Amino acid sequence: MTDADTNAAVTYGSYLRVDDLLALQQPRSAGPEHDEMLFIVIHQVYELWFKQLLHELDRAVALLAGDEPHPAQHTLKRILTILKVLVAQLDILETMTPLEFQTFRERLQAASGFQSDQFRQIEFLLGRKSDAAIARFPAGTRARAALAKRHAEPTLWDAFLHYLAREGYAVPREQLARDVAAPLEPSAEVQRILIQIYRNDATNAELCERLVDLDEGMQEWRYRHVKMVERTIGTKPGTGGSAGTAYLRTTLGHNIFPDLWDIRTQL
Ligand code: HEM
Repeated sequence: MTDADTNAAVTYGSYLRVDDLLALQQPRSAGPEHDEMLFIVIHQVYELWFKQLLHELDRAVALLAGDEPHPAQHTLKRILTILKVLVAQLDILETMTPLEFQTFRERLQAASGFQSDQFRQIEFLLGRKSDAAIARFPAGTRARAALAKRHAEPTLWDAFLHYLAREGYAVPREQLARDVAAPLEPSAEVQRILIQIYRNDATNAELCERLVDLDEGMQEWRYRHVKMVERTIGTKPGTGGSAGTAYLRTTLGHNIFPDLWDIRTQL
């Protein structure tokens, strides 16, 4: 029953479901070990921010689809500000020493951030889609349905290219009709358009710069996460079954929007 059903006055606690929220941190270690609370809280906070990021990214796509570059830029600014918080939060986790992590690590069994479907949804929206990432989640789960839906949807880059086409830029037909599940490949024609934008179209050049910020911000998170992992578990394998830091290093240095980086030399 909700407050609306009972006519009860809305309070801070009832609106934000504080009792429910505070009941969600359930350490698995005996004792429980002091540091496990931090580990749970920080992951839950990340998942909430991932939820908000998806909410904002969906809005950015919708605003581009509606030919509203200024609100789209504003939304991207919010996304970037959240990303900065996500990166900064790793500092808190780095106050946990390798020995402190060991006090409860075995209780995690195979659980790992690797299984965060919301993180994969963000990757999908930004153009890094994979069937394998969907298949990891059992049929009938919320996570699988959400990923399958995003797999079939246009990425933020697709929304941007369609917007540019409506702005009058000669975006090639094959780019506009590309398979939205395929990885984003560099395009010489798109790069020519982007160079033109940087030289003559301040509004859209700003939009491009915000996309580069987003790309760089995601890469910054990956780099900081790997270093945090390295200082916490060294070269031990991950709980998610990967080689740990060796695997995570393979995810570094990949530009999300390759065209926006390739043009830099020519500008
Ligand atoms: C002590 C803290 C942490 C350690 C030791 C750690 C370790 C790892 C390791 C080893 C992997 C590789 C997959 C595996 O085999 O498990 C991984 C992946 C991942 N972790 Fe963490 N992690 C930590 C904290 C976090 C936090 C706070 C988040 C935030 C949600 C996070 C999100 C992720 C994500 C999204 C991946 C998948 C990355 C990819 O596949 O590109 N991790 N983590």
